[in-house]
Amino acid sequence: MRPKITIIGAGFVGSTSAHWIASKELGDVVLLDIVEGVPQGKGLDLLEAGPIEGFDVHITGTNDYADTANSDIVVVTSGAPRKPGMSREDLIKINADITRDCITKSVALSPNATIIMVNNPLDTMAYLAKQVSGLPKNRVLGQAGVLDSARYRTFIAMEAGVSVEDVQATLMGGHGDEMVPLPRFTTIGGIPVTEFIAQDRLDAIIQRTRKGGGEIVNLLKTGSAYYAPSAATVQMVEAIIRDKKRVLPCAAYLEGEYGLNDIYFGVPVVLGANGVEKIIELSLTDAEMAEVKQSAEAVGGSIETLKKL
Ligand code: 2OP
Repeated sequence: MRPKITIIGAGFVGSTSAHWIASKELGDVVLLDIVEGVPQGKGLDLLEAGPIEGFDVHITGTNDYADTANSDIVVVTSGAPRKPGMSREDLIKINADITRDCITKSVALSPNATIIMVNNPLDTMAYLAKQVSGLPKNRVLGQAGVLDSARYRTFIAMEAGVSVEDVQATLMGGHGDEMVPLPRFTTIGGIPVTEFIAQDRLDAIIQRTRKGGGEIVNLLKTGSAYYAPSAATVQMVEAIIRDKKRVLPCAAYLEGEYGLNDIYFGVPVVLGANGVEKIIELSLTDAEMAEVKQSAEAVGGSIETLKKL
């Protein structure tokens, strides 16, 4: 049997994720949305691309959770996106209500699924998903580190004039403007990034990365990014479905790692068939740790807001 991957939310991130999952033949896709006709239309349209692109998977567009039963992975993209002038935190109330509803309905029908949260505020929605689903911590994770490090890698490749394929980097922290790109763990073809890029330019890249989501929101004006967010999501789906043991930064539940407790936070993890199989604890300098703490305070504040809703 082929793996079954449910995507909740047939907006830009959801439907673009479905597109890449289908083109990589990672499994059968169920695209669910509350808006009648949209998931059915997008699902059928994508299915009809199969003969041209040569992918052979089932794609079901639906408004009915019954179609999601026994999914291996549930990706939650549904929720309001940001508009210019909004922070991710401004979405907390509306997206918390949506998250509660779709996690309750999908987990009841797919109790063995791994859940990947993509809606914002990302770390807080992952926290809520774990709470509502009752699933073990390794099976509930959030997407953003792969997206944020992809933005960071893109800017580094542009600045150094090298292929993005050769830029390796990691990044920690919440999916917010306090995220922590880590130049000490950034290399180009195995060579430290500081051999290519001067410190002041690297600092500018770090600032641009931190505001990378907002940069796209300000350009689009009517919504937020979707190509890179969905590519990041699908890389995580692939790591789980193919048990690849990828080392990727993801929002994971921490219980003491990095001195943090009861929080979802971006950390490097090993991602495989069992979801978050390992959290990697880097030895950070005092300066790096101070930035991590600052980011954790922002995420912790958001989780406190959630608890009061
Ligand atoms: C972003 O950073 C939507 O939060 C997402 O683009």
